[in-house]
Amino acid sequence: MHDILQDSGFREHYARGFLETGITLPTTLVETIRGHYAARELGHNDFPKFFVDNEHQAYLEGAAIGAVLNTFRGFGRTLVKRFYDKAYSKAVYCDQQMVEAVLREVLAQGLPRLFKTRYIVASYDMYLRNTHQCPAAGIHTDLPNFHHFYETENDISLYIPLVDLDEANGGRITVLPESRLKVPGNVLLKMLHDHFSADPRWVDEQGYVDPNRIPPEAMAGFIKGPAHQDLMTLYKGVIALAKKQHAHQFEKTVETAGRVLLFNNKNFHAAEPWKNPQLDREVYVIRMVPLYDVPIRLKGKLHGTQVNNFLVDMELGEVRRFDQEVDVRLIPAANKLPL
Ligand SMILES: [Fe+2]
Repeated sequence: MHDILQDSGFREHYARGFLETGITLPTTLVETIRGHYAARELGHNDFPKFFVDNEHQAYLEGAAIGAVLNTFRGFGRTLVKRFYDKAYSKAVYCDQQMVEAVLREVLAQGLPRLFKTRYIVASYDMYLRNTHQCPAAGIHTDLPNFHHFYETENDISLYIPLVDLDEANGGRITVLPESRLKVPGNVLLKMLHDHFSADPRWVDEQGYVDPNRIPPEAMAGFIKGPAHQDLMTLYKGVIALAKKQHAHQFEKTVETAGRVLLFNNKNFHAAEPWKNPQLDREVYVIRMVPLYDVPIRLKGKLHGTQVNNFLVDMELGEVRRFDQEVDVRLIPAANKLPL
């Protein structure tokens, strides 16, 4: 993270788990986002798509449910769906309609001054809504997920509460700062490159691994392989440590409506229960990824929806939307981070 964020912001993020941006979206924009998603059907929930058939999630759910997921695929799918249906009354992934408006606003309000790296890709957005009856998310890390393919240990989310999350309402996220426990992830990009670059079918004419060419069977081969299994062992260990050793070291911050926070979803986090029966908890998140000098292209579609199609230029203070995934081959090596 030290080569992505400016030094003072890096130190704050490292020590506290959040980076306060000092940016607040205007109420009109907050209400536009809420209105936009109010039109989506209650009960719409994209979460299960992202977790079924994903072995990472099987490990996360613990040995019992993991075994169930791996043995009885259909039953596992139902269990996962039931779990996430309860956790959110509405969860919309990759809608992509509000991304540009929000990025333009935060760029205009000075987001670039927090960054050292010039380019960052805005992959997709998430709208999450829950009532006081939904169970709060426990301690977890959003482990790299093969549906995304390109993920790093330093992914950064713009996290924006759309209603006040405070002492009275609850619903705040708490984060275990990296200074307490670091979840390694960049090694996965290296492993993916090492594994898939060995087969010319998955490599383009410029020598880049192209995840859009890799079929599920080839991905399954990597997932079962020794390198990935080593990493899973490490993740299981670090998850146990977070829960057993650090459960009381999670940090909170101020999360009023429209306030923009930066946070790394690979760091351990959890949410307080939502307490207000008169109002639903609503948050909006834009997941962003920094670019490394590993020759891997970005995935273009996530469950049929265009993703990875916004490029934020911190030097020009601009966001560009593309019809397809950002072509990382066109970004000069000097503007990429060493893996
Ligand atoms: Fe999470």
